[in-house]
Amino acid sequence: MSEHGFFKAGDRIQLTDPKGKLYSFTITPGKEWHTHKGWITHDDLIGLPEGSVVSTTAGLKFTAFIPLLGDYVLSMPRGATIVYPKDAAMIVGVADIYPGARVLEAGVGSGALTLSLLRAVGESGSVHSVERRQDFADNAQANIEDYFGASPKNWKLDVGSVQEQSFTEKYDRVILDMLAPWECVAMAAEVLRPGGVFLAYVATTTQLSATAEALKADGHFTEPESSETIVRGWHHEGLAVRPQQRMIGHTGFLIQSRRMAPGVEVLARRRRPAKGAYGVTEE
Ligand SMILES: C[S@@+](CC[C@H](N)C(=O)[O-])C[C@H]1O[C@@H](n2cnc3c(N)ncnc32)[C@H](O)[C@@H]1O
Repeated sequence: MSEHGFFKAGDRIQLTDPKGKLYSFTITPGKEWHTHKGWITHDDLIGLPEGSVVSTTAGLKFTAFIPLLGDYVLSMPRGATIVYPKDAAMIVGVADIYPGARVLEAGVGSGALTLSLLRAVGESGSVHSVERRQDFADNAQANIEDYFGASPKNWKLDVGSVQEQSFTEKYDRVILDMLAPWECVAMAAEVLRPGGVFLAYVATTTQLSATAEALKADGHFTEPESSETIVRGWHHEGLAVRPQQRMIGHTGFLIQSRRMAPGVEVLARRRRPAKGAYGVTEE
């Protein structure tokens, strides 16, 4: 990673053409990057400031930056569906992933969310990731090493089902992105310290319902809260300022809750369930 805004060997560079199309590669001394109209010599990029305009031998121009995390994640090889940058940003905010936090994460998939978690906990924190599938774990490992230049010392990746692992440590946060997070609520209650945050990212309302009910039934968690994040980009050209016509329609829901103190019962919410909330009842 470039620390000071100047490209060096080993940096990932992102080139944007005038139409906004992105290209990305790692700067490697002695190499060339070829296009349909000429090439760029990697050595010529070393030492240039980010935000430079670079040109191929045939005059094709590109703007050069180190990719932002969101750009990197969207371009990296995927095994499983990634958490989109808008949701990763919300997860870090809603689950309050702070520098120094000890985070347990499952599944890892392609490692997109793992990158946001590692960035948020910083060097004083740690991320323990668990992924059921070896092939996805391998893909995530490669993506994370590629991003940081090496496997981070404060990151551990285990292969298996998270609810079947035996944990010896406590965690400040449990973050789940998987098909059945409700199966992991008892495990989360076991490993979370008092006040710790459970957060699950799920794609469907049925998963959301199952997770909410599991958290309530478990008895160790506060009343869960849920949300979805809808982000609409805007187009601006002079006075033609309007929402963009295309947007990401649906990704997923967040549901989060906090671990109560040991032995303390959660205060029941004084609210009557809506009619039909728990199935159809005869009048
Ligand atoms: C949608 S992907 C995760 C994507 C990831 N968050 C990212 O941003 O790249 C869901 C992953 O959860 C894994 N998985 C499902 N159930 C699991 C479990 N009980 N324990 C560990 N991993 C699990 C799947 O193999 C899959 O790779």
